[in-house]
Order: sequence, then C-alpha cells, then structure tokens
Amino acid sequence: MSNIEQTLSIIKPDAVERNLIEDIKKIFTENNLSIKESKKIHISKDEAADFYKVHQSKPFYNDLCLYLSSGPIVVMILEGKNAIKENRKLMGATDPKDAENNTIRKLYGISIDKNSVHGSDSLENAKKEIEFFFKS
Ligand code: CMP
Repeated sequence: MSNIEQTLSIIKPDAVERNLIEDIKKIFTENNLSIKESKKIHISKDEAADFYKVHQSKPFYNDLCLYLSSGPIVVMILEGKNAIKENRKLMGATDPKDAENNTIRKLYGISIDKNSVHGSDSLENAKKEIEFFFKS
C-alpha cells in the first residue's frame, strides 16, 4: 500500500504578511510533500465561518473567523506519503509555545491564533477541505 495522500494546507495572514510564503513552501517540498495546487486568496468572514464550522461551539470561533478573513492567505494541496500526518509533524503543536524545535509553528508562529499555518487533521477532513477551496 502506497499511502500517497493529499492534504490541505493554509498559510495564514500573519505569515503571508511577514513574507514567509516561500520559506514555508520550501519546508514542505524539502520534506517530501509536493505542492499540487497553490493560490493566494482573501476570504470573507462568512467563508471563514463555513470553513471552520467544526469549531462553531468553541469560545474562540468568532475570533478565529475574523482572523482568517483579516488578510490574504495561501491555500495549497500537498501530496505525498502519509501527507496528513507528515504535514502535521512539520507544523508542530497548535500553540507555538508548545511546538517542537524546527517545526513551522515554532519557527514562525506568534500565538495560538497567529500560528502561521493550518493543516487537515484526518483523511475525511482533508477531502472536505480540499473540496472547499479547490473544487467548488
Ligand atoms: P488551526 O489548526 O487552524 O485550527 C483551528 C484554529 O483555532 C487553530 O489552528 C488555532 O489557530 C485556533 N485556536 C485559537 N484558540 C484555540 C484553542 N484554545 N485551542 C485550539 N485552537 C485554537
């Protein structure tokens, strides 16, 4: 079994604003994740609310949606062996202060909100999230 998967990655507004797009993309490509699609977009708060609807009961939901729609983001389809797990390893823990050395969030994240990247957490969500940005 090859386990070649696709996952959705987002470079969030804090990282786009600091011109980190190419540095972050390089981390993916140097670690066996190829970038099959990539586009820079600016989504509305309603679109962010739809994308993050799994978190709608969380206390941070409104701020999260405001934040993702606050500036341009880069959405990408990453592909590779065990792409979902590998991408999450490269990103590190959600809160940059808990993230392992050399992970994207440790290197570039500012706070739990401004944590520079998002990545799908399961095969099922990867399919939904790719569909959300690329197949509609
Ligand atoms: P992300 O992987 O994009 O998924 C949801 C986001 O909610 C998460 O990254 C964080 O940036 C943000 N967030 C804000 N507060 C929290 C929290 N307390 N726990 C988890 N995620 C949070």
